[in-house]
Formats: sequence, structure tokens, C-alpha cells
Amino acid sequence: VVDIRALYKQTKAFTFDPGYTSTASCESKITFIDGDEGILLYRGYPIDQLAENSDFLEVAYLLLNGELPSKAERQRFDTSITHHTMVHEQLKNFYSGFRRDAHPMAIMVGVVGALSAFYHDSTDINDPHQRRVAIHRMIAKMPTIAAMAYKYSTGQPFVFPRNDLDFTSNFMRMCFAVPAEEYELNPVLCDALDKIFILHMDHEQNASTSTVRLAGSSGANPFACIAAGIASLWGPAHGGANEAALNMLEEIGSVDRIPEFIARAKDKNDPFRLMGFGHRVYKNYDPRAKVMRKACHEVLDALNVKDEPLLEVAMELERIALEDPYFVEKKLYPNIDFYSGITLRALGFPTDMFTVLFALARTVGWIAQWREMIEDPNQKIGRPRQIYTGAPMRDYLEIEDR
Ligand code: ACO
Repeated sequence: VVDIRALYKQTKAFTFDPGYTSTASCESKITFIDGDEGILLYRGYPIDQLAENSDFLEVAYLLLNGELPSKAERQRFDTSITHHTMVHEQLKNFYSGFRRDAHPMAIMVGVVGALSAFYHDSTDINDPHQRRVAIHRMIAKMPTIAAMAYKYSTGQPFVFPRNDLDFTSNFMRMCFAVPAEEYELNPVLCDALDKIFILHMDHEQNASTSTVRLAGSSGANPFACIAAGIASLWGPAHGGANEAALNMLEEIGSVDRIPEFIARAKDKNDPFRLMGFGHRVYKNYDPRAKVMRKACHEVLDALNVKDEPLLEVAMELERIALEDPYFVEKKLYPNIDFYSGITLRALGFPTDMFTVLFALARTVGWIAQWREMIEDPNQKIGRPRQIYTGAPMRDYLEIEDR
């Protein structure tokens, strides 16, 4: 790592790094990735151990505070989060202002951005108490807001949060229960979704997290920063890739068509890429994809789905690609998105909700990173430079002379 700040002060020289492939924009204690070895740690703990043994709010506490909570800390944290799960009654008006067929991510950007208009008592970023309240509000309200977006799209009435349930079971219920009808939670499905949320919680300086940090570096309030992160996550190259991977598996349809698609992915004249394969940082098996693959099998078993054709295509595609010199040499392995689409669909979510679920989980990482930045005494406004390639200086021309 070369720290060029001193060089810049002396010479005004700066680096040119489109896509920031080799630029660290900050220091962080939250998440560590070793892309060559396929390692992902949250605060030092391997992601597979956390997914296996922990739960959403415990991992959220860890990301925010640096340590796993004691029993008393965990209880206080849970109480504070559940205290904030409701949203203002007026917030409902935002939903009815959207078309029924609006993309739920469009609704999320709008509603989350609007939270700062409701919570004036937690927008002073210089007050540690207000920061903490804003963080707890964000984590607590995201499931309610996301479930409301889903319910609105189905035309069903909203389901209020139930604070006696754990974080993810409450979310499942808000999505799938119909008021006045019995709804039985399936613990295996809730547990699988909880794992999926943990896998998505943080991933150091990806596009959306960097967006949150950049927006926050100007002093913008946390609700506005998270709305910016949601907007960035929406893109198909980022949060939308799981939907693209599922569409691809559907397009392939059966194992006998896999060689045709592998050939297309290798053809430089064809823009087609294997969706859910390759990663900017991981040049090894994405450790999240391993957990996701297991969760996928657990969900399909719990639902008694036998011979899911998409899973069959996915597993065979993975097997063939991992033996193909093209993918081996370029170190292209399945990423988290490869199996997540099949799993989320089996859980009952429509494809346009996939990125919303990602946003719900990533909110923890975004807000933890936002706070880390705000509390850093060396924090500066984010202000990248550019290489100007436009016209040289020239004189204004009157319209008759152009
Ligand atoms: N299928 C076929 N070839 C690929 C693939 C793929 N999925 N991914 C990369 N390659 C090839 C490229 O064509 C390139 O080949 P070349 O060196 O001969 O030109 C080489 O591998 C390197 O690819 P880059 O695009 O330069 O790698 P980069 O690190 O910029 O891209 C990315 C990473 C965007 C994820 C890429 O692998 C990709 O497009 N994958 C498919 C989309 C996807 O699954 N995205 C989800 C990412 S995870 C997430 O956001 C949560």
C-alpha cells in the first residue's frame, strides 16, 4: 500500500484509477476480505461461522460495536431495535402515491430518503446520542418499510411488526401473513433467510457502501445517505446480479444447453457473461457462495422440492465451468449471487424483491461504515479528482458566428 498524501502535498501529483481498482478510500476495522484465499471476516470472525452460529441482530451488534454482545448488551440492543420497528402512519401516504407496479427499489429510495423528514431528532450527526438513535431506527425500520413495499405491490393490506418475534421471522411474517388469517412461520425458512441476510451485511468498499460514505462525508444526514446507498445498489452490476443470474439459469433451462452458454461466455465477440460468476475482489470461491449453496439445499429440502430444474442447471454449470481452462485461468468462480436467486424464489419472494432484501441486510454495513467515518477524527469530505479530456480554453462565440 502506497500512501501518496505526502507526495500530493509536495507535487500536486495524483493517481488515475478508473473504477478504483487499486485505490483504498478509507481505513476500516469492520470487514476484511482476502480475495485470493476466498476469506471474508466481519470484525475478525469468519463469515461461515457467523452464518452458522449467530443471528441477524447479533451480527448487526458486532458490525456496529466491534465485539459480540454479552447477554445484557444483547438484551438492551434487541429492546432498542424493537422499540423502533413501527413507522409513522403518514409514511403510508408515500406508498399510495406510487403506482402499484412501481419497482420496490424505487419505493425504497423514496421512502427511506423521506425518513429524515420524520425524525428531526436524529439527524444531528455531531451528537453521538442522535447518531445511535438514527442507526437503531434505520436497522429497525428497514424490514417494515421493505415488507410494506412488497405488500403494496400485491395489493394486500400492510402487516404490523410483531416485536415478540426475532428480526427475520418478523420480516417473513410482515411479507407473507395476511391480516386476520393464521400464518405459520417455518423456522427452517426463517433461519435460511437470516443466514442470507448475514452474508449480505457488509462487504467493505463496494459501490453502494462507497456511495454511503461519499454522501455522508459532506455531513448529509444518515437517512439520506442510506437512500443514496439503496440507489447505487439497485444497478444490475451490483445488487441486481442475483436477478440476472436467475434469469440466465431460466434461459438455459436444461443441462443439455449448458455447453452452448459456456461457449458464448468464452466468445469475446459475444457480450454474454455467466451471471453469478466472477468477482472484482474474489479470485477464488466466494466464501458467501458456499454458505448460500448450502442454504439453497436446506430451503428446497424444507419445502420438499425435488428435482428443482434450476438447481440442477446451476450445479452442473458450476461443475463444468470449474473444469474449463477459460474460467480456471481467469479465476472465475461462483459468487454469492449464483445460488441466491433460486433460494429467494423458493422462499416465496418475487425477483423484483431480491435487491430489496439485499438492501435490508446491507443497511447494517452501510450504517456501521457511515458511523465509523463520522467518528474518524481524520475524516474529510470525499472529493476525487479527474483527468480533463475536454476542449482547451477558447473564447466565447456569438450565436451568429457559430
Ligand atoms: N463470464 C465470462 N467471462 C467473464 C466473467 C463472466 N461472468 N467475468 C469476467 N469475465 C472475464 C472478462 O471477459 C475478462 O476477460 P479478458 O481478461 O479476456 O478481457 C476477465 O474475465 C476479467 O473480467 P473483468 O470484467 O475485467 O473483471 P472485473 O473484476 O472488472 O469484473 C465482475 C467483475 C463485474 C463481477 C465480472 O466478473 C462480471 O461481470 N460477472 C458477472 C456479473 C455478476 O455476477 N456480478 C455480481 C458480482 S457480486 C455482487 O455484486 C454482490
